[in-house]
Amino acid sequence: MMVLFSFISGCSGLKESKPILPVREYEKMIVGNLNADYVGTRNCLAACHEHDRLKLFFDASTMGAQLKKESGMPLVDCESCHGPGSLAVKGLTKELVEMNAGQGIKTACDFKTLIDLKKLPATAQSLICLKCHTVNATFNLHNWNSGLHALNEVSCFPCHDIHAGPDLKVTPLASGKLCFSCHQSAQAQFSLPSHHPLKEGRVFCVDCHNPHGGFADHSLQQDSVKETCVQCHPDKRGPFLYQHADVAENCLNCHSPHGSVNSRLLNAREPFLCLQCHEGHRINTEEGGSITAERARAFYTRCTDCHSTIHGSDVPSTSGGGRFTQ
Ligand code: HEC
Ligand code: HEC
Ligand code: HEC
Ligand code: HEC
Ligand code: HEC
Ligand code: HEC
Ligand code: HEC
Ligand code: HEC
Ligand code: HEC
Repeated sequence: MMVLFSFISGCSGLKESKPILPVREYEKMIVGNLNADYVGTRNCLAACHEHDRLKLFFDASTMGAQLKKESGMPLVDCESCHGPGSLAVKGLTKELVEMNAGQGIKTACDFKTLIDLKKLPATAQSLICLKCHTVNATFNLHNWNSGLHALNEVSCFPCHDIHAGPDLKVTPLASGKLCFSCHQSAQAQFSLPSHHPLKEGRVFCVDCHNPHGGFADHSLQQDSVKETCVQCHPDKRGPFLYQHADVAENCLNCHSPHGSVNSRLLNAREPFLCLQCHEGHRINTEEGGSITAERARAFYTRCTDCHSTIHGSDVPSTSGGGRFTQ
């Protein structure tokens, strides 16, 4: 146990993070005040108009809609997340609220007796949601616990602002701004000369990444980089009769997914891209110079002028091999 502990604390220099507690500790934090009872939304808000707008939004949302008993869904109301509310509204009557209002005083409930949602550790915040959004109920959350967001103390709250409006889901268009708020380097990459048209509204972060975690590295939507890319570029899927070895299995051997200073999202310009792995065409000067400077230049500008089917081809080259020349 001691060994494990010193190992963990030894990592603290790498990543500023709070100690990880056993799950039951987080569970305790979200039980709420043990002396309070559940009173139901109607009693909670009976005396108060302060939260009318919140309630209106909430009732219009998918979670609020579940309040209808016929739905057979778990009941979601204010206290599902904020904890039992009897102490918060104790002694609050319509008359008191109106009397105070007459004197220009706003009456607040004793909200300190509710769960202090904002100050909870991220793991406990997420548990509030996960007690209903189990893996069975929300399949997308299958990899949540092993995902980089959960591991880096990003809870559900920053992405799903429960009270911002009736729409609880993040629309793909809104996701760009949301994601950029924490991922500035991605924002910079999508501003490079060659980039996936994200700002143009044709590609979205969630096309490629699952914000709730995924099976592949970088929380990709599919099991591999290639599968993620060929969702939209099916002509690159193959299999081809003449493959670029297994190089094309990982599109990132040649492309940067967000953006690049080079055209076509390439990691490097041609011919340098290709010359990382190939010698290119040997220029045989020893045997009397079989190649002219003119021709050599042709070879060393854009390899894909001739090797135009660089992603694979079903057509053999003139020598009968697979040289991607047609
Ligand atoms: C699904 C969970 C959930 C439900 C249901 C819910 N809330 Fe909230 N509420 C939250 C979270 C999370 C926050 C804190 C948001 C943040 O981090 O700023 C919050 C914040 C608030 C605040 C503080 C607002 C602010 O701007 O600081 C009020 C008031 C509130 N909720 C009232 C209500 C009322 C009234 C209901 C019932 C109609 C309700 N909530 C239902 C999750 C919920
Ligand atoms: C008491 C149970 C309960 C709690 C707690 C709860 N939810 Fe929900 N939530 C539901 C139900 C039921 C639905 C509607 C059915 C569905 O879409 O799964 C829903 C729907 C949603 C949706 C919309 C899904 C859609 O397709 O439109 C989002 C987003 C969501 N919840 C996020 C949260 C977040 C974030 C929290 C924590 C702050 C939370 N929920 C807490 C039960 C709950
Ligand atoms: C990094 C931001 C982010 C975090 C953190 C996050 N979500 Fe989401 N969530 C999204 C986005 C974006 C969508 C819309 C997904 C889409 O359009 O493909 C979404 C969709 C959903 C939905 C709608 C149903 C579905 O599967 O598409 C539910 C329910 C949900 N999230 C619940 C949660 C819960 C519960 C948590 C915390 C355990 C959480 N989310 C954490 C960004 C986030
Ligand atoms: C076309 C698909 C695609 C889109 C769209 C996309 N990504 Fe990525 N992203 C990837 C791939 C593939 C990787 C893995 C890169 C690697 O291994 O070098 C990655 C890596 C990342 C990483 C980790 C590496 C790094 O650069 O820090 C983050 C963070 C990230 N993406 C965030 C985002 C955000 C935020 C958005 C939306 C603004 C977004 N991505 C849109 C495909 C995409
Ligand atoms: C509240 C801040 C926050 C928001 C909002 C946020 N992220 Fe993250 N994200 C993080 C942190 C922190 C990490 C872990 C550290 C890192 O790799 O940057 C992370 C990691 C990731 C990774 C994994 C990076 C890797 O190296 O493998 C991806 C992919 C990612 N986020 C995508 C998204 C997408 C897509 C959205 C929008 C739906 C989003 N994030 C919104 C904070 C955030
Ligand atoms: C959601 C769909 C989608 C996914 C997933 C996707 N792309 Fe794209 N890609 C596009 C669109 C749209 C364009 C722009 C096409 C245009 O402008 O004609 C594009 C353009 C490109 C271009 C050409 C850029 C240029 O400057 O002409 C390359 C290279 C590319 N994608 C590679 C990839 C790779 C590699 C992946 C996987 C990491 C990927 N794409 C995943 C939709 C997608
Ligand atoms: C060996 C390097 C290499 C690999 C691996 C590679 N590409 Fe490319 N790709 C290129 C080059 C070079 C170009 C530019 C060709 C040109 O300018 O005519 C290109 C262009 C593209 C384009 C835009 C032009 C077109 O043909 O539609 C898309 C889309 C694309 N690649 C997608 C992919 C996908 C998806 C993968 C993974 C399955 C992938 N690439 C793997 C080298 C590669
Ligand atoms: C990541 C390394 C890598 C990159 C980058 C790369 N290749 Fe390849 N290429 C290979 C491998 C491995 C093979 C298969 C082994 C072989 O036959 O040499 C291959 C095969 C080929 C072949 C067929 C060779 C034969 O003998 O059949 C041609 C032509 C080719 N590549 C051209 C290119 C061009 C043009 C580029 C740049 C757009 C490029 N390659 C980028 C690794 C790479
Ligand atoms: C002017 C057209 C042209 C250009 C430009 C060109 N190639 Fe070739 N390449 C060919 C032809 C033709 C073949 C032989 C095809 C055959 O055998 O059927 C070939 C063959 C190859 C081969 C197979 C092995 C070998 O050496 O014969 C590789 C690898 C190769 N090229 C890589 C490259 C690279 C890397 C570049 C850019 C630096 C490039 N080529 C530029 C026309 C070209």
